[in-house]
Amino acid sequence: MLHDSSLLFQYVLKGTITQALLNWYGHYARKLPWRAPYGKLQDPYIVWISESMLQQTMVATVEPYFARFMTAFPTLVDLARASLDDVLRLWQGLGYYSRARNIHYTAHILLKDHEGMFPNNAQHLQELPGIGPYTAAAIASMAFGEPVVAMDANVTRVIARLFALSDRKYCAQHAQNLCPAKYPGDFNQALMDLGAQYCRAHQVVCTLCPLEMFCLAYRENQPFMYPYPKEKAEKRTRYALFFCALSGGHLLLERRPEKGLLGGLYGLPTTPWTETLQNTTPIDTPIKTVQWLLLHEITHTFTHFRLHAHILYAQVPWREKGNEERFLWVPYTQLAHYGIPTVFKKALKHDLIAKISKIQKE
Ligand code: ADE
Repeated sequence: MLHDSSLLFQYVLKGTITQALLNWYGHYARKLPWRAPYGKLQDPYIVWISESMLQQTMVATVEPYFARFMTAFPTLVDLARASLDDVLRLWQGLGYYSRARNIHYTAHILLKDHEGMFPNNAQHLQELPGIGPYTAAAIASMAFGEPVVAMDANVTRVIARLFALSDRKYCAQHAQNLCPAKYPGDFNQALMDLGAQYCRAHQVVCTLCPLEMFCLAYRENQPFMYPYPKEKAEKRTRYALFFCALSGGHLLLERRPEKGLLGGLYGLPTTPWTETLQNTTPIDTPIKTVQWLLLHEITHTFTHFRLHAHILYAQVPWREKGNEERFLWVPYTQLAHYGIPTVFKKALKHDLIAKISKIQKE
């Protein structure tokens, strides 16, 4: 959409803008462990893993996870041979565990149906589980040199300001128009770096930005007008009871069903997460013959809702687990070997086990 003459001016300058951006990236790109040197293509496996980790997650958080993952699974074959439990354990704490499950599953598909090779364009990459338009464009541009833009929130913001676009829906088209045939991966990563460092949502450092002289939002002195802020959806609260059953130095864990939130991960047995508060003296406990005591409460925020959980504790005289395969008794010393997500770690924090042992002695 050409809105006015200044936008037309931007289009005339298209090559100049792209070149300014690439020159800047050549000198000032952040040194990140998954990045190829300027002008070089990267291994698609490295791009895939790093970009999957970087979705909804900050660079500083991802760095140690990426290093551990690459040490454990340096190649696609190593990843496909690993158990899902091992992959989830390395993902523990990063959140959004469906990413890890998809990565593991997709590694199998690539070996089985694609001779261990990644499709070399965004369109075919998107046919793989867990690879959406963003990740497909990142892999295609950074590993195969396909000129496609990887639109994440940072890139969208930079483009919205550069062209003074209130509406996010026009940003991809404008970014694509700037995307060079040569070095599209560097182009994408340069925009990511600008968005992360200088052109931030609530703070800008226009003087250091290589696009300052072309930027319409800068010219209007209104960077925060673009793009128009999204309306935030109210987070609902859900409620649950977590069961902390202890027996002779063991804690009862449940392997969560494969499908659904935190699927395939180990956690405390829990009631379904419902929208109404539950009675803390439930009949529906995993172990029927013991008395449960309320120990403490936690609140944990997920992307779309907040969970408020009451943690109930019981000392179990013998290690029963009913008929259910999904329950297992784990010695306290072995807990670190299970991929326990943060919400359950929170429930177990404050030296919970030590606290319980103390209660028992009293
Ligand atoms: N965020 C997502 N992908 C990134 C990348 N390749 N470099 C820096 N930040 C990113």
